[in-house]
Amino acid sequence: MSKILIKNIKGLVQCGEDIPNLKRGKEMKELPILENAFLAIEDGVIVAYGKMEDWGGITDWRDLLVIDADGKYVLPAFCDSHTHTVFARSREEEFVDRINGLSYEEIAMRGGGILNSAKTLQEMSEDELFEHAVQRIELLKSYGTGALEIKSGYGLTVDAELKMLRVVKRLKKEAGIAIKATFLGAHAFPSEYKEDHRGYIDMIINEMIPKIQEEGLAEYIDVFCERNYFSVDEMAEILEAGAKAGLTPKVHVNQFSALGGIRKAVEMNALSVDHLEELEEDDIGALKNSDTVATILPSCSHFLNIPYGDAKRLMENNVAVALASDFNPGSTPSGNLSFVWSLACVKMRMTPEEALNALTVNGAFAMGLSDSHGSIKLGKKTPVILTKKIPNLAYIPYSFGDQLIEQIIGG
Ligand code: NIG
Ligand code: FE
Repeated sequence: MSKILIKNIKGLVQCGEDIPNLKRGKEMKELPILENAFLAIEDGVIVAYGKMEDWGGITDWRDLLVIDADGKYVLPAFCDSHTHTVFARSREEEFVDRINGLSYEEIAMRGGGILNSAKTLQEMSEDELFEHAVQRIELLKSYGTGALEIKSGYGLTVDAELKMLRVVKRLKKEAGIAIKATFLGAHAFPSEYKEDHRGYIDMIINEMIPKIQEEGLAEYIDVFCERNYFSVDEMAEILEAGAKAGLTPKVHVNQFSALGGIRKAVEMNALSVDHLEELEEDDIGALKNSDTVATILPSCSHFLNIPYGDAKRLMENNVAVALASDFNPGSTPSGNLSFVWSLACVKMRMTPEEALNALTVNGAFAMGLSDSHGSIKLGKKTPVILTKKIPNLAYIPYSFGDQLIEQIIGG
C-alpha cells in the first residue's frame, strides 16, 4: 500500500465535499481554498484533508511518504478535455508558411494541415506512434495534467483511424494517466473524397463506427463542423450514427465560421462544443442553461493568431466554460495548461479563479471524469499538483512562461 501525507500546505485549492461537478456562469467565480492544510492519499485515493490544527497526527508510519509543502499550493491536477496527442510528426514548416503570409485555411486547401498529418500517420507503425505519445504524455504530466482526452482524426482511412484508436487504448492501460478516447474520423475529407462527401461519410458510418464499437475503442465522437470541412447536416448524420453505437458527441465547431453547429450539437446532447472563436447570438442562446460545456482553446487562438473565444459573454449567460489545450501539431503544438491559464486571464479576461474552475471541475465534466477528477474530495482518485513556493495562486497565470508546477502526486 502506498500512503502519502502532504502537510503544511499553504493553500489546498478546489477542496471540499460540496464542490459541484459542473460550475456555470457566476459559480465559476467560486474557488474554495483551505489555508495551512494537510492532505492524505492512500493508493491514489484521497482519504483525508483538513486544517493543520485539526490534523490528528500519525499513528502508523509504515510505508508513509511525508511531503512538507511549506509555502506551496496543492490543487487538483488539470483536466485536458481536448487534445490530439497521438500524431506522427510536428509541422513547423506550416508555421513558417503562416509567418510568411499564408492562412491556416490556405495551407489546408493546398493539402497541408490535417491531410499532411494524416499522410505521415498512415505511414507510421502503431508501436512508434505509441512511443511518441508516451513521451508527450510524460511532458504533459510534468506540466500538471492529470487526465486527458485524445482524439483520432489523423488517420482518415479505416485502418489508420483504428490504428490511432488502438494506440489510445494502449495508452489508457500503460501511460499512467486517465484517458478518454474520441473518434474524429470526420476531421477532414481525404483528397480522394473531396468531391465525394457521401462516399467518405458512408465509410465513417458503415465501416469505421461499427469496428470502433466492436473493439470498444472510443467513448466520444467528434466532427469538425466548419466551412470546407463538414456541414451541420453532415455533422448531425455522423453524430447520430455515433450515438446509436454508444458514442457521445463532443465536437469542433465555430473555429472560423458560425454555421449553426452549436445549436445542432446541443440538441443532440453534446457533452461539449469546442473552439467557439466565432460566436453569434443564437449560439449563446443554444448554450444558455444547457448542460453542454463550452470548451475554449486559447493557445490555439494564440498560435493561429485568430480571435479568442468570448468566455466572459458565455459566463454572463450562465454557460459552463472549460479550458483545454487542443494539443496538436498544426494549430497548438503545446499542451502546457499553465500557459492556457495565463492566456485565459490576459486575453479573455477570465479571473484566475474562473480559469482554474474551467481547467479542473469543468474540464473533468467535459470528459466524463467528474467522479474521480477535477476537485479534491474524499474518495476521488485524482492526481494533485504540488506547486513551487509561490506568494498566491494568481501568481501562476501572472508569471506566464514560468514552470511553477513542482510535481504531480498520487492518482
Ligand atoms: O482543433 N480544427 C481542427 N482540428 C485541430 C487542428 C488540426 C491540425 O491542424 O492538425 C484543431 O485546431
Ligand atoms: Fe482540436
